[in-house]
Amino acid sequence: MEADNRLKKSSEIPPKSHPEHQGTDFTRREFVATVGAVTGGMALGFRGFESSGTALAETPARSAHEVATEMVINGQHQNFSLDPRVTLLDLLREDLGLTGTKKGCDHGQCGACTVLANGVRINSCLSLAVAHDGDEITTIEGLAQGEQLHPVQQAFLEFDGFQCGYCTPGQICSAVALLHEAQRGDASFVTPDLARKAPAELTPDEIRERMSGNICRCGAYPGIVEAVQAGSRQTPDTTKTGGRP
Ligand code: FES
Ligand code: FES
Repeated sequence: MEADNRLKKSSEIPPKSHPEHQGTDFTRREFVATVGAVTGGMALGFRGFESSGTALAETPARSAHEVATEMVINGQHQNFSLDPRVTLLDLLREDLGLTGTKKGCDHGQCGACTVLANGVRINSCLSLAVAHDGDEITTIEGLAQGEQLHPVQQAFLEFDGFQCGYCTPGQICSAVALLHEAQRGDASFVTPDLARKAPAELTPDEIRERMSGNICRCGAYPGIVEAVQAGSRQTPDTTKTGGRP
């Protein structure tokens, strides 16, 4: 039931009170909410819990004022009717089933939710979906070309740029955008020569600074730095595509 719903437009998903949800059907969302109450899962930011940890009586209903929104997501044109309160992260994960993009802090502090909007990296947990009307969104699922991994994905594999992997989709999306920013010549806080007009040299210091918005709780940073450096040597010039992979 839930898997089917994820593929529907938001407006087509029946409310919880709908007969479709009655009876013995125990949805994945209800399972997560129940387990979360027992294990303290509210700390992970699941919807349907208030900060005190008590379950809310009812998940807030979708707004009556839905907004027509269209986006190109991983190359596919999609039309939605969206509750204006829904974040891009929740649209991707909850409605479209693109669960490669992770929810870590849900507060813009960890980078696990990083995706590309028109080639620019953003924290999708801080971004309302309706604000992306007309945008091209690329998630970790959209980086590979068929069986061919993006050079940065391949480099993360070769240089052990991860341990548990939870932060990895955000790290990789962030790195892909970073390479474009460097090719374009953007300076960072540690760039020594701000007047130069050339692609930035991606030293380990530059990579650490430019990836500082992506936290890895496993501490896989040495491998991540090596992977970004290796990926930069294999990634084609994206200045003509505005950073779109
Ligand atoms: Fe978005 Fe942590 S989940 S920054
Ligand atoms: Fe585990 Fe980064 S690989 S959090």
